[in-house]
Amino acid sequence: MDGPAIAADTKPWRDPSANPFISVRGVTKRFGDFTAVSNVDLDIFKGELFCLLGESGCGKSTLLRMLAGFEQPTEGSIRIDGEDMARVPPDRRPTNMMFQSYALFPHMTVEKNVAYGLLREGMKKSDAYAKAAEMLRMVKLEKLARRKPDQLSGGQRQRVALARSLVKRPKLLLLDEPLGALDKKLREETQFELIKIQETLGVTFIVVTHDQDEAMTLATRIGVMKDGIIEQIGEPREIYETPRSRFVADFIGTVNLFEGVVEAAAPDMMRIATPDLGDVMVLPQEGLTRGQTIWGAVRPERFALTRKRPEDMPNAWEGVVEEMGYIGHMSQYRVRLPSGALIRASQSNRLREEAPISWDEKVWISVPPAAFRVLTE
Ligand SMILES: Nc1ncnc2c1ncn2[C@@H]1O[C@H](COP(=O)(O)OP(=O)(O)OP(=O)(O)O)[C@@H](O)[C@H]1O
Ligand SMILES: [Mg+2]
Repeated sequence: MDGPAIAADTKPWRDPSANPFISVRGVTKRFGDFTAVSNVDLDIFKGELFCLLGESGCGKSTLLRMLAGFEQPTEGSIRIDGEDMARVPPDRRPTNMMFQSYALFPHMTVEKNVAYGLLREGMKKSDAYAKAAEMLRMVKLEKLARRKPDQLSGGQRQRVALARSLVKRPKLLLLDEPLGALDKKLREETQFELIKIQETLGVTFIVVTHDQDEAMTLATRIGVMKDGIIEQIGEPREIYETPRSRFVADFIGTVNLFEGVVEAAAPDMMRIATPDLGDVMVLPQEGLTRGQTIWGAVRPERFALTRKRPEDMPNAWEGVVEEMGYIGHMSQYRVRLPSGALIRASQSNRLREEAPISWDEKVWISVPPAAFRVLTE
């Protein structure tokens, strides 16, 4: 094993002197005149579980395939563990890839499918099967070791493929939509298993997914991709709290976006004028000029709904609850303002003395200046 997984409290990406395990520099991949991956820079550290997240066709699989060596970059370089990969074929890389459309060998049992790679490398049969059994235990399939793939459910097949890609204990495991075939519950369970496996084996994972919740749950960091470009790289919380663009804000979670213009910047407060909310006070941000168009992004949970006008809140509006949805631990609201704007707000449902705010009620909706994330693109 190559050293322990990243402890929860060490974050090498925050340390400018830390050496990345994978270093992608200026990587572009063109197919004819179509650019699938565009000038990507990316550092990934040993023991990370890095998620590449983005819509269908944004270049996730292409980037992963270049890391695995199944595609060559048109431009740029990839280093893994200090070594330039330009002339290193897939089977000589310290990587293993689980493909989006993984194929199990249909005529082989589950255990043989998993042991196959080890047997091919010349490992003794009993050792290879022992290792396969260990991996099958890890993905909770030990009871099905003797079945053939067509006697398994889609989710079970996917876990066999996962065991098969783990058994050789690669330094870098590339998983392309590894949980796509699982139903919601099994998917969540397997996510936690994946994290456990990753912590136990200390393997570095890059996981491709288009499921934002999955990325938020699994990842040490997320790279959000759009049209071949990595829009933002950050810890899940960072991506959620401080998205750098409207695209990222909207892609991860729910967000209210308000277009506005910078009116005046004082050292401790900035005023923006918006058609939806009128004048809004936000925290000042460097690099903005008066008259500049910006977008204020606010997560639904940052709005407070009250029956009385809140005191000392610079940003408060009166509106009417147009829609309300109760989902157990929280309620979601859509509040219509006199400007016509519809605000999405959510409130957690703790025990309250008052009856909860409901349909057609007149309410005050307020938000602290710090809850606005000011975006310029
Ligand atoms: N061999 C190829 N030749 C031409 N175009 C390709 C080739 N492989 C991929 N592309 C194109 O590159 C773009 C990125 O493809 P890629 O498979 O990386 O997307 P993805 O993000 O993995 O999408 P999905 O979530 O649907 O799997 C797509 O528009 C795709 O059509
Ligand atoms: Mg793909």
